[in-house]
Amino acid sequence: MKAKSRRRFLQDSITAGSALLAGAPLAAQTAPADSKAMGANDRIRIALVGCGNMGSGDLRDALKVKNVECIALCDVDDARVAKAAREILEPAGQKPQLTTRDFRKVLEIKDLDAVIVGTPDHWHALPTVEACKAGKDVYVEKPLSVAIPEGRAMVEAARKYNRVVQMGTQQRSATHYQAAVDYVKSGKLGRIRLVRVWAYLDWKGETPVLPDGPVPEGVDYDMWLGPAPKRPFNPNRFHFTFRWYWDYSGGLMTDWGAHMIDIANWAMGIKAPSSAVSIGGKLGYPTDAMETPDTQQVMWAFPEFSMIWEHALGVGHGPEAREHGVQFHGEQGVLVVDRTGWEVIAETDKIDKKVRVFKSTGLPRQSSGNEEYHALHVANFFDCMRTRQRPNSDVEIGHNSMIACHLGNIAFRLNRQVKWDVENEKVVGDPEAASMVARPYRAPWKLTV
Ligand SMILES: NC(=O)c1ccc[n+]([C@@H]2O[C@H](COP(=O)([O-])OP(=O)(O)OC[C@H]3O[C@@H](n4cnc5c(N)ncnc54)[C@H](O)[C@@H]3O)[C@@H](O)[C@H]2O)c1
Repeated sequence: MKAKSRRRFLQDSITAGSALLAGAPLAAQTAPADSKAMGANDRIRIALVGCGNMGSGDLRDALKVKNVECIALCDVDDARVAKAAREILEPAGQKPQLTTRDFRKVLEIKDLDAVIVGTPDHWHALPTVEACKAGKDVYVEKPLSVAIPEGRAMVEAARKYNRVVQMGTQQRSATHYQAAVDYVKSGKLGRIRLVRVWAYLDWKGETPVLPDGPVPEGVDYDMWLGPAPKRPFNPNRFHFTFRWYWDYSGGLMTDWGAHMIDIANWAMGIKAPSSAVSIGGKLGYPTDAMETPDTQQVMWAFPEFSMIWEHALGVGHGPEAREHGVQFHGEQGVLVVDRTGWEVIAETDKIDKKVRVFKSTGLPRQSSGNEEYHALHVANFFDCMRTRQRPNSDVEIGHNSMIACHLGNIAFRLNRQVKWDVENEKVVGDPEAASMVARPYRAPWKLTV
């Protein structure tokens, strides 16, 4: 592999190129010379940006893939870089050639092939777009974005610079999810009128209010905030619990919605809903520190069916007494799928002398077994880097499923229905809702493709 010849170097200015935060996809671009397929024995050099819980998990699975080497670790918290080096790279016999708090330094490494972005949600779009511009492929964690135009920019960057960009929705690489989706697509459920999607987290109770405090030693807090508004440091708004704050995330609606709504989109072959309404609130923990609702329901309209989201923190029994899942309600039966397996419950045909007669026997539970589908998902990314095929969770798939999540949150925050122009990715007839679709970036950060 002639690394240098197939590299696109980091562009001097991150503001170069077409400034955009919304709009239609760019016209198809000619593949740059640096995008030719790699051979199976070519070494792939990667970096991890965001060495937290999930980034570390992604890196562990990346190193299981033959001929993958991690040459750089980046985190704004030095302790996390040290931990990843010690606990993941060292046992694999690898040593980073660069450790840094600034992802832009990572992208300057000429023979770097790909970046794993494991940062908090508000830090997904910028490193992804900049990595594409620098000629690197990207594995970016879910949820793809914190705002719909961010996702659109990520799609455009992937296409413009001909990069492989996979979102970390690992269900797309799971055999049992693929089988369940095939069943829905086969038409055996009959006409589907309702799709129900949910996530209930019984292990996540309240987040006690904590005072603001000093920035921990070894942390570049301004870089952690990045494009988000400037605020004093508060431990609740930092590692892991950032997801319960609007500045950095969209709560459980985007955290688990990114996973589960993606299954609905996949099976139903849809892009985005034409409207959303939502209710809920801090019904479980009214006085705790979380901003995002601990209890929320959303209803979306599609031309031929409705979709419902439910979530709750602190309780675990969602529909079917499962903590997460997707149900497809067809006229012949209901298919239920979650991470543990899937099944079909037949619909009633008739009631004969008080006895319910079903339309079929349905399908007994098909277990997911012990398949390590997260590892398969990561491996799919590297396969696609070699073949230049679109990955299982291509960035556009991720962008589409985030639209329902973000609209659900806008409808919740405004407490009214929000209508959506699916084709043009725009709110219809509601300037206030339209103003909430994009997120302003704190200077000097700009998202440009
Ligand atoms: N695919 C999955 O099933 C799954 C599961 C859990 C989390 N996630 C996603 O992974 C992401 C990270 O979640 P987490 O729970 O690991 O959070 P975390 O807080 O543990 O880790 C995030 C890390 O990113 C670092 N970081 C923040 N800003 C940075 C920057 N500008 N440059 C470099 N590093 C930066 C933080 O210091 C932290 O170490 C989230 O987007 C989350 O939704 C995905």
